[in-house]
Amino acid sequence: MNRVHIKTYGCQMNERDSEAVAAMLRARGYRIVASEDDCDVLLLNTCSVRDAAEQKAIGKAANIAHRKRKQPDFVLGILGCMAQNRGAELLDKLPDVDLIVGTQKFHQVPDYLDNIRAARAAGVPIASSIVDIAEEVGSQNTIRDHVLTQDAAAAAAGADGDVAMDADVPPQISAFVSIQQGCNMDCAFCIVPKTRGDERSRPMNDIVAECRALADRGVREVTLLGQIVTSYGRRDYVHTEGISPFVQLLDRVHAIEGIERIRFTSPHPRGFKQDLVEAYGRMPKLCGYVHLPMQSGSNRILRAMNRPYTRERYFEIVEALRAVRPDMYFSTDIIVGFPGETDEEFEQTRDLFERANYDMAYVFKYSIRSGTPAAVMGDQISDDVKEARNATLLGLLQKNSVRRNATLVGKVEEVLVEGPDKTGKKFTGRTRGNRVCIFDANPRLIGQLVPLLIERASVSTLYGELVLCGVEA
Ligand code: 5AD
Repeated sequence: MNRVHIKTYGCQMNERDSEAVAAMLRARGYRIVASEDDCDVLLLNTCSVRDAAEQKAIGKAANIAHRKRKQPDFVLGILGCMAQNRGAELLDKLPDVDLIVGTQKFHQVPDYLDNIRAARAAGVPIASSIVDIAEEVGSQNTIRDHVLTQDAAAAAAGADGDVAMDADVPPQISAFVSIQQGCNMDCAFCIVPKTRGDERSRPMNDIVAECRALADRGVREVTLLGQIVTSYGRRDYVHTEGISPFVQLLDRVHAIEGIERIRFTSPHPRGFKQDLVEAYGRMPKLCGYVHLPMQSGSNRILRAMNRPYTRERYFEIVEALRAVRPDMYFSTDIIVGFPGETDEEFEQTRDLFERANYDMAYVFKYSIRSGTPAAVMGDQISDDVKEARNATLLGLLQKNSVRRNATLVGKVEEVLVEGPDKTGKKFTGRTRGNRVCIFDANPRLIGQLVPLLIERASVSTLYGELVLCGVEA
């Protein structure tokens, strides 16, 4: 009765939180299973950024609740952003949910599951569901690093003699590292300040220690995560010689032997001052891929969104980064159909979108989030208009992506070999520009940086052959 499946919705921070919960549960002797059909405990780690994301998780929870009739001991939990956003109110719609745990309480999940299971084993009737969405001082530090995944798995396997455990835990080559929680920017459309709370940074020494431990275990790439990473440590550390705490952190991670690639997400355009732009010039491990959320290309809409930059400043940042790294890859987030967005204002977005020449973009139709300032703005835009604007940008993106990929065919790109692809027959890895590549390789090359000759490309994937002198591919 200890098989747990965690289904994750939303962003990389959520994925990382799920990994951390999985690591903590493994350390307690739970088994993390890949299929939700074979689990005793289903945890949905949820997203609230758009209504569609919440509805998806609610639909899933409603569907799965019937399982309780066949499997009376089955435990259903809702974790993360939607738990935080809606709390006990979720039980009105979903009375079969046993556990609702918010974003500052992930570390309590093992205790809560233990309690539910112990009560059931003892035949003690459980009066009600557990709901914990309280704030917790220092919660940015309470999710322990998941570097222990392998060790915990081995310990758990030793404890219950389940040697199949290692198969659940492939060697980790690329890892997410949480550096900060919450956001104080108060963008008018955004629910994150409610779901993730105030901006809080982890101590720099802890983050560096986690990255070092990851490197010792074979991790070669780290992605530093936070809701607004460029503001990292702004209340805790001073600028030194014009270098922000975030860039100081990048410098320290860059110095770690074994870490070969550094990525981060999500930044704010406001954080791209000279020190960060220059970091791309002097830190070779910093991957040439920048996610730079534009949201809108109209200065009036940016002001209404409470985004403190202009389209001119945004484009200046893009150009400054391209001056330092001419082959820089860019991705962005755009919201179409923000309240009051006119055709002309959307045209400004389309224009900037074209000029920035993105390799990747996440285009969202504005979704009303109750409790945010934009939810009560007049002049909400119809779904048809949002859909048309969305399709326009996605069409441009597809063209860009095909064009960029075509320039890569015939070239050699450095790829970090991450492991088998979905089919299990080939291997997968990514270029520095974050393009997914598929190729034949020897499993010994997992974790290595290797040159790959790109032979063909689809819209989103590159296919190629390793160029290995004297090494068996
Ligand atoms: N509607 C649509 N998209 C949104 N995002 C955030 N809030 C909303 C909303 N209410 C998008 C933004 C953000 C990304 C994570 O989600 O583009 O950068």
